[in-house]
Amino acid sequence: MFKQLMEEASAKAKSSIILALDLEEAKPAGLLSRSLKILEATHSYLCALKLNRQVVLPLGLFQGAKKIVAKAHDYGLPVIMDAKINDIGNTNRAIAEYYFKAGFDAVIASPFVGWEEGLQPVFEIARKLEKGVIVLAYMSHKGASEGYGQLVQNSKTNKLEPQYRIFAQKALKWKADGAVVGATYPEKIQEIHKILREKVPIYSPGIGAQGGDVAAAIKACARYLIVGRAIFQAEAPAEAAKCFRNEAQKGR
Ligand code: XMP
Repeated sequence: MFKQLMEEASAKAKSSIILALDLEEAKPAGLLSRSLKILEATHSYLCALKLNRQVVLPLGLFQGAKKIVAKAHDYGLPVIMDAKINDIGNTNRAIAEYYFKAGFDAVIASPFVGWEEGLQPVFEIARKLEKGVIVLAYMSHKGASEGYGQLVQNSKTNKLEPQYRIFAQKALKWKADGAVVGATYPEKIQEIHKILREKVPIYSPGIGAQGGDVAAAIKACARYLIVGRAIFQAEAPAEAAKCFRNEAQKGR
């Protein structure tokens, strides 16, 4: 359901760009109005919106954040909550349920907690409410290698394998709606895509501010590109969003 929603939104806008609207403002009222203004300026170049906790915390989930989600929906954009859910199952389910109740269409979750009493309840509530779950496979920052890149023993083959390959296999097995792989590591995108193929689309953050490159990520088979500061901190956010959209379309 969520996978299809994303495909439709992407086809309609001819865009694979997801805006990470991570503004920081001293006062919540200013934060909300600036967020809505940037969304209004850029929406026609986007296929989805992603919010993170630096916006949801000051605005309140059922107050300001819900207003941003509703505005994105008015523009036909699905909204992803970058919650990186990472606790025991009972807590994970409650967290996911709150985000879904506020209107979010999908949540990002961490596979480090495993399935049983970990992410299983998140997938169950998502399926029940026809929402999506996107799992991390390899993060975009420098320290990602310490966790996602470590060699671990594959319980099935008893062989040593990088953690991210095992997470990609889990994303496939769990029928995740997406897997996150940093655009800062195009070689990892390519390697993980060979495991996931078209069954689990790759969402790739780290473009621009973190050094990731649109063409390299698309060539490596990232399906969606997540862009934050390089759009909302630009002098003309709409122009920046349009450029990213066009560059990604060119690479397809
Ligand atoms: P910038 O400004 O760097 O923002 O374009 C990127 C956005 O994406 C989030 N981020 C990630 N989210 N896995 C995720 O689920 C990742 O590996 C990852 N790397 C960056 C970041 O928090 C910001 O919202």
